[in-house]
Amino acid sequence: METAGKEGISVEDEAVDKTIFKDCSNITFYRRQKQQLSKNNTYRALLDSVTTGKDSTKFQIINEVTKIPLLAEVYGIERNIFRLKINEETPLKPRYEVPDVLTSKLSTVRLISCSGDTGSLILEGGERDLKCQIIANPFKIELLSEKEVVISINSLGQLYFEHLQIPHKQRATTEREEQVPADTSQESQEDLGLWEEKFGNFVDVKANGPTSIGLDFSLHGFEHLYGIPQHAESHRLKNTEDGDAYRLYNLDIYGYQIHSKTGIYGSVPYLLAHKLGRTIGIFWLNASETLVEINTEPAVEYTFTQMGPAAAKQKVRPRTDVRWMSESGIIDVFLLTGPTPFDVFKQYSFLTGTQAMPPLFSLGYHQCRWNYEDEQDVKAVDAGFDEHDIPYDVMWLDIEHTEGKRYFTWDKKRFPAPKRMQELLRNKKRKLVVISDPHIKVDPDYSVYAKAKEQGFFVRNPEGGDFEGVCWPGLSSYLDFTNPKVREWYSGLFAFSAYQESTDILFIWNDMNEPSVFKGPELTMQKNAIHHGGWEHRELHNIYGFYQQMATAEGLTQRSKGKERPFVLSRSFFAGSQKYGAVWTGDNTAEWSYLKISLPMLLTLSITGISFCGADVGGFIGNPEAELLVRWYQAGAYQPFFRGHATMNTKRREPWLFGEEHTQFIREAIRERYTLLPYLYSLFYHAHVASIPVMRPLWVEFPDELEAFGVEDEYLLGSALLVHPVTEAKTTMIDIFLPGPNEIWYDSKTFAHWKGGHTVKIPVALDTIPVFQRGGSVVPIKTMVGKSTGWMANSPYGLRVALSTKGSAMGELYLDDGHSFQYLHQKQFLHRKFSFCSSVLINRCADEKGHYPSKCVVEQILVLGFRKKPSSVITHSSDGKDQPVAFTYCARTCTLSLEKLSLNIDADWEVHIK
Ligand code: GLC
Repeated sequence: METAGKEGISVEDEAVDKTIFKDCSNITFYRRQKQQLSKNNTYRALLDSVTTGKDSTKFQIINEVTKIPLLAEVYGIERNIFRLKINEETPLKPRYEVPDVLTSKLSTVRLISCSGDTGSLILEGGERDLKCQIIANPFKIELLSEKEVVISINSLGQLYFEHLQIPHKQRATTEREEQVPADTSQESQEDLGLWEEKFGNFVDVKANGPTSIGLDFSLHGFEHLYGIPQHAESHRLKNTEDGDAYRLYNLDIYGYQIHSKTGIYGSVPYLLAHKLGRTIGIFWLNASETLVEINTEPAVEYTFTQMGPAAAKQKVRPRTDVRWMSESGIIDVFLLTGPTPFDVFKQYSFLTGTQAMPPLFSLGYHQCRWNYEDEQDVKAVDAGFDEHDIPYDVMWLDIEHTEGKRYFTWDKKRFPAPKRMQELLRNKKRKLVVISDPHIKVDPDYSVYAKAKEQGFFVRNPEGGDFEGVCWPGLSSYLDFTNPKVREWYSGLFAFSAYQESTDILFIWNDMNEPSVFKGPELTMQKNAIHHGGWEHRELHNIYGFYQQMATAEGLTQRSKGKERPFVLSRSFFAGSQKYGAVWTGDNTAEWSYLKISLPMLLTLSITGISFCGADVGGFIGNPEAELLVRWYQAGAYQPFFRGHATMNTKRREPWLFGEEHTQFIREAIRERYTLLPYLYSLFYHAHVASIPVMRPLWVEFPDELEAFGVEDEYLLGSALLVHPVTEAKTTMIDIFLPGPNEIWYDSKTFAHWKGGHTVKIPVALDTIPVFQRGGSVVPIKTMVGKSTGWMANSPYGLRVALSTKGSAMGELYLDDGHSFQYLHQKQFLHRKFSFCSSVLINRCADEKGHYPSKCVVEQILVLGFRKKPSSVITHSSDGKDQPVAFTYCARTCTLSLEKLSLNIDADWEVHIK
């Protein structure tokens, strides 16, 4: 099927064309797995084949029908992680194993085998009471914690493995024909796409034939599952119906449909399950097209009455079965055993890395549009922000800034002096981000193309020539980022000497890297295109974009000789992309429902390692009405990546174009963002060093509170701020669930407070952003907002102290130069800890290793929930000096406010309230 390119799509005809994208019924490996499993194909583990090595325990499992053995390996990995690999014992050729995702520091723990009964083997070796029991017949693995089965693998007998076969043509002449496994060679009425798969007018010819794999996992006691982005779906994963599995296949879907399990731009094949008392994770390391089925059996209670006068009750725990199916590769799965959500986050980042520490400017507000037309336009928009007293940090240029969509070039008519333009921005202490996509215009006179072609750096078609497909520039070839040499070369293109007219305030946006191929099947690359090492695109489709962002981030780091932190936004991503920068949710629409779905979408990304995420503010497609735009800014101000963006042919929507009242509300939202930057930056530091998500669903902070498990219209920013953005038109009242029966929550504007553990009704006006500070927290803020983060480096701090029911509070501040790696190499950072207890607020060092001279002072302290008017307030500095300070106290709201202080942020001091 030939599909129209994206050019010329107008706002009116944006509905997603379902004939372009597959659903499960069009996916033959899905149909094969379904069909085969109905035939009750069992596997048996041969326990007499067990060998225990330093790293892993190996054994064979054999298919009872085909008798072909598979090799299974169980690894114990530090931090209570188990890994199971299943591959063919003697494949015709190697099968794809995903490289470059796992961090190199992984160290294994030797598992000790102590035999179970004759039919099973027990392995132990983790730090806690965790055991892994391998049951021979039928083959099953059970993960036990304190004698309770937490996860069982293959208990539903859905292990599925298609062995590599000799292609039809060669079969007649080889001896291996007899060995063709029954599970894929059976003749069938139905076209099961073994060697060829049709979709519309596209034919996928499979050189290796069918290579699909699958496995089931039963999660005992669990009925709340989350993860496996990216879908425009609820945060809690839903039960899948037959034919409606969650799909992980990176696709460019313009104006994607919401509440759909279709895969969009990125994939993280990792899910978390949570129940009272335990959180676990399953990370399925596979980069080919993947489907996930989920089925929860709820808890049931049986009552036996025949047993005598007293009726006996038996409760059966709920259980969720998860079935993973991939088109290709091997089975390589990690079980993360928790037990807390934060343990699971640590375990996952131990495998895939933590969030890169962003440069501070990138946490400011970003202004984007497809396109800012020319230098004059950039200048005018930039000036508009100053004129309207709205801070912003980054101006963005989309594809039209280039000469004919040739990345790394400039359209000299529109942008005659890119350096001059960057100097203008630099003088305003602002940055520029420009786009750089993976498709390269076929044009021998374009040096990037010519050099890549000469060196054989493009993905190839099955015939051996460079793959060519259509994207923004017209006919294009696609850089093969899976090749380390290509990445190295591409990184070099960002050197100041190579990238004409680029300066150190220019950063990068990688788009269309699913990759998007307008006339390709499902608007992407055909699966039989060939990558470095001879691998078919089908093996690694979902990791292509990851590699581009990796190479770009490396390039930006290198251009500064390793000194400066990069900033790279990528549309496509995979497990581990957090190491390279930020992602966003792609081409959303200017409708309330898209604003609403952005919350669960970002929460899902956040718990799967990708803290630095955002959605296009305003909605990319269409024209938001003023109210929606205001609400979107208010939501975006509290999300990790905060960028306004709009597609071509939408009306201009810079913040000041909707009348003074709306400008005022947007200004307030953006300024509130800048006020909160010290807190946000500190949260990113924790994401970076301790794998703690910046944006947290309620269940993460309140893991013992059942009511919190399904909440997705509000979340916690860090652990201190509960944010419930308004996502419906004309809202005047809003229901807010305040979790934690022992908590106390303070409205961050009115300072009114509520006890947690119930839902409150709050009146809202168009300028209300429902944000509540948790009692027991200290939030560091900036008391003065500048034109951009650059103007605020030395501006004073404030502390918002919200007291717990016990009258105490804790908080932290992390700060460094905001742009270099000195925090890492020279330990040039400050990490302070604030604690409030018995009416004394103490500022102390939280990490003695760090040093960073700061001129900043704490100027304001606001204490919420202070019950009685003090008689005096005295500051006590480390050199022993005491000084009384003026204060105001409001008995109605129980707030104590100290102003005009001058307490050095980097010094130890105390404030005594008497
Ligand atoms: C894609 C991106 C969008 C961008 C456009 C032009 O649709 O998702 O953000 O503006 O391409 O580059």
